[in-house]
Amino acid sequence: MDRSYVLPEIVELYDLLNTGHADHNFYAKLAAHSQGPVMELGCGTGAALLYIVNREKAETRPFVGIDPAPQMLAIARSKAEAERVTWVEGVLSDFESQQRFDLIFMTVHAFQCLLSDEEITDTFRAALRLLSPEGIFAFETRNPLCAPWENWRKGSHTDVTIVTHNGESVRVWQEVQEIRAGFVTFDQHHHFIDLDRIVSTRSTLRFLKLDEVRARAEEAGLALKAVHGDWSGKPFEETDKEIILQLVPASA
Ligand SMILES: C[S@@+](CC[C@H](N)C(=O)[O-])C[C@H]1O[C@@H](n2cnc3c(N)ncnc32)[C@H](O)[C@@H]1O
Repeated sequence: MDRSYVLPEIVELYDLLNTGHADHNFYAKLAAHSQGPVMELGCGTGAALLYIVNREKAETRPFVGIDPAPQMLAIARSKAEAERVTWVEGVLSDFESQQRFDLIFMTVHAFQCLLSDEEITDTFRAALRLLSPEGIFAFETRNPLCAPWENWRKGSHTDVTIVTHNGESVRVWQEVQEIRAGFVTFDQHHHFIDLDRIVSTRSTLRFLKLDEVRARAEEAGLALKAVHGDWSGKPFEETDKEIILQLVPASA
């Protein structure tokens, strides 16, 4: 597994480096369209799911968060209101439930952690099995036509210094290692400045174009309901950085 979701000292930095708002609001609005069970796949530290949970009164409906990284889930479980969520360690294809979900979502580009064709197809098939007839599987993926990895380097806007809860300063930057046929491999370096210690992780993300995602979804029995190009909900155009998809059961 990707060490950035496993090493305790790096997992501790996750919420400081990823502070979504617009994306959380987007999925919260989708959740507000229904009253049935909601699931976040690749929920990590639970930031997005707990944001949605906290907008609703207690005991409204079931919430499930699934992630294969126990270290990320440990942080999610420690947060306020975490007891309102069923946290599950694993991947969607192994998840069995009698519940049918009105919304299954993935965010902060967790979809791009699905590297093989098989993982993508298995995830789509499992989503189809777990969605209610009106349910939506929603997620975003970075648009490869914008080549976002060109900005992932020292000195770019993704080079940041954060201060941990212990008051430690940590500089974080990326260094792309390989770009090959829809896969980008990059290192993320974390310089713990006071200790003068650098911890590096290596990650690979998959970049699919809209047509490629749509073809795989259709093969698995899902149909494209909507696709947006930013968090305001504007229709997707090829120059947009984000591809934000909503898939539904094809028979719906
Ligand atoms: C960038 S993080 C996003 C976490 C969270 N969604 C958020 O809002 O911050 C990607 C997450 O995807 C998870 N992940 C990796 N492989 C996965 C898979 N095959 N299925 C589901 N989640 C996966 C990782 O463990 C990690 O927690």
